[in-house]
Amino acid sequence: RVFDADGAVLVPGIVDCHIHNREPGLEYKEDWESATRAAAAGGVTTVVGMPNTDPVIDSPENLELKFERGEASAHVDFQSYAVVTSENLELIPDIDEAGPLGFKVFLGSTVGDVPPPSDGEILEAMERIRETGKRLGFHEENGEIIDHYTERFKAEGRNEPIDHSHSRPVIAEREAVERMITFAEETGAKIHMFHVSSGSAAEAVARGKDRGVDVTAETTPHYLWFTEDVMREKGNVARVQPPIRDAEERDRLWEVGIDDGVIDCIATDHAPHTPAEKKVDDPFGNTWDAISGFVGLETEVPAMLSFVDDGRLALEEWVRRHSTRPAQVWGMYPQKGSLQIGTDADFTIVDPNLEWTLEDRRELHSKNCVTPFEGESFTGKAVATVVRGQIVAEDGDVVGDSGYGTRVDVD
Ligand code: DOR
Ligand code: ZN
Ligand code: ZN
Repeated sequence: RVFDADGAVLVPGIVDCHIHNREPGLEYKEDWESATRAAAAGGVTTVVGMPNTDPVIDSPENLELKFERGEASAHVDFQSYAVVTSENLELIPDIDEAGPLGFKVFLGSTVGDVPPPSDGEILEAMERIRETGKRLGFHEENGEIIDHYTERFKAEGRNEPIDHSHSRPVIAEREAVERMITFAEETGAKIHMFHVSSGSAAEAVARGKDRGVDVTAETTPHYLWFTEDVMREKGNVARVQPPIRDAEERDRLWEVGIDDGVIDCIATDHAPHTPAEKKVDDPFGNTWDAISGFVGLETEVPAMLSFVDDGRLALEEWVRRHSTRPAQVWGMYPQKGSLQIGTDADFTIVDPNLEWTLEDRRELHSKNCVTPFEGESFTGKAVATVVRGQIVAEDGDVVGDSGYGTRVDVD
């Protein structure tokens, strides 16, 4: 349900189930306080942290440490995934007891070098996770294909970052999605595809859903907004895994993913890195070692509202994918994603007509704010963020207290 109040629109609190909050261990990039400050300012009432921290969240103890840090400093409510590796399959029931929102496997190489489990280990992980009733999400890129093309492109002297999207080709994503769907079909596990970047991968998800597999999927504002041309304009700043795709893949992501309803969730993949790591002073340096990822918590609501303003997406469809559905997919509904719970409700008030430009990334609240959305213009912005009845941000200013945010209890 959506309320229209004098031009401002009140919607259920926006739920972002994919952020890299970086704490514990990588606080030089971001921490719970700064990530949730950005969330509050951006109109996001619940965030879920990824487990590629230091230490990685691969045990009950590390998960509890991550929760403790969040309880101490978060501005909005939060949760976390636990990672599954070759080393911790036996620990899955104990990790589940510690209360994560769900589990994650990184297929292939990503930021943080969490080694991917083998196919056999993934099947076993699915069987064990099925018993917990929770969902297993994937960084869905086949690392062998990526390593092959990366080595070949380097040897050929091809230009990174321009060729980034080709060294991590669409087939690496599509193949991983299809293989994980086949595994879920075999094991009966509930699975999720994080950050689907291409129409081809969205079509693979659609085929899985048609076969009755419990597979859900997410995409991000950047895959819907940009095409790979952004690599020529902004270089390493726009570098991300999976990469931003060509116009044909992007357009099919809209048609199959959004228009046909295959994509369940919008999330950011908010992934802060320092300007030096992002090589902002040399964005076109042919280095092959600039880091992937950028922030998004304060541009996700504006980007989606801009699509609404363009007539590309109905307001209700945006809210469904950015609040209700993510809460349902990850077992937080109706605690989150709903206005039905009275004075304890989370909600976001947006001005869908406010036109603005992100002139300077330093206007943002993260510790490190590099983003290809710097310089982009939007129609729409969050004007108030309310968590469990308390205003935590107003007109972009964070007014709530660090530590008010609490872990969403899913057990
Ligand atoms: O671009 C990315 N950055 N993709 C990921 O999967 C990880 C993330 C990060 O942690 O920086
Ligand atoms: Zn990922
Ligand atoms: Zn991510």
